[in-house]
Amino acid sequence: MISAIRPLVAGNWKMNGTNASLNELMQIGHGFMSGLDAETEALICLPATLLSHGAEILSRTPVKAGGQDCHWQPAGAHTGDISAEMLKDAGASHVIVGHSERRTDHGETDSIVLMKAEAAWRAGLVAIVCIGETRAEREIGATLEILSRQIAGSVPAAATHTTVIVAYEPVWAIGTGLTPTIDDIAAMHAAIRDRIPRGTRILYGGSVNPKNAAEILVLDEVDGALVGGASLKADDFWAIAQAAG
Ligand code: PGA
Repeated sequence: MISAIRPLVAGNWKMNGTNASLNELMQIGHGFMSGLDAETEALICLPATLLSHGAEILSRTPVKAGGQDCHWQPAGAHTGDISAEMLKDAGASHVIVGHSERRTDHGETDSIVLMKAEAAWRAGLVAIVCIGETRAEREIGATLEILSRQIAGSVPAAATHTTVIVAYEPVWAIGTGLTPTIDDIAAMHAAIRDRIPRGTRILYGGSVNPKNAAEILVLDEVDGALVGGASLKADDFWAIAQAAG
């Protein structure tokens, strides 16, 4: 990690968690009250149903609460959608936009993701913009081209290091237990760094766990992690955060 950039370890609970999971969330929050390097920032992006209550629990700890997606409009006739303003009102500080599961399951294009990132700032949230290549794109050697296109299309031109965080998540590494080699992660992050505003945090995401976190998070170009499965367990998330400090 480049020391001037404060690392962020962000959890993404995806479509997991009910009220019964709030106890685990409390454990996560409490874990960070004792001893984590104060330089490391921590965030859990909760399902919308838990955000209000979860944010209240986390407000007594150093861990922040975030959303996993937002609509680009502030309000209106969009059944089932949630605006960035609503997330902010429920206690969010950040929102993930353009996660590959949204891009795939909901057909989100770069231009939709860009509007969502702008909506996040309008509401006073930091946008975590996800990019990443599929296995097929990687196999034909198109990774850099895909990442460049996604950055150009979904990271707003007016982005600054305070309004946007970029998460590099190779689609084939998400939830599979597979990760790129350390050299690959370093090379991709360096290439992304060249294409985004100076000082913007770049998180790595895709099968980060307590075993591999240290070797990934120690890389100069990696400013933290976006953690799915391993963020559901307080012990695992805490171990990953410690590796970032
Ligand atoms: P994973 O998910 O850590 O379970 O691979 C990461 C993500 O999709 O953000």
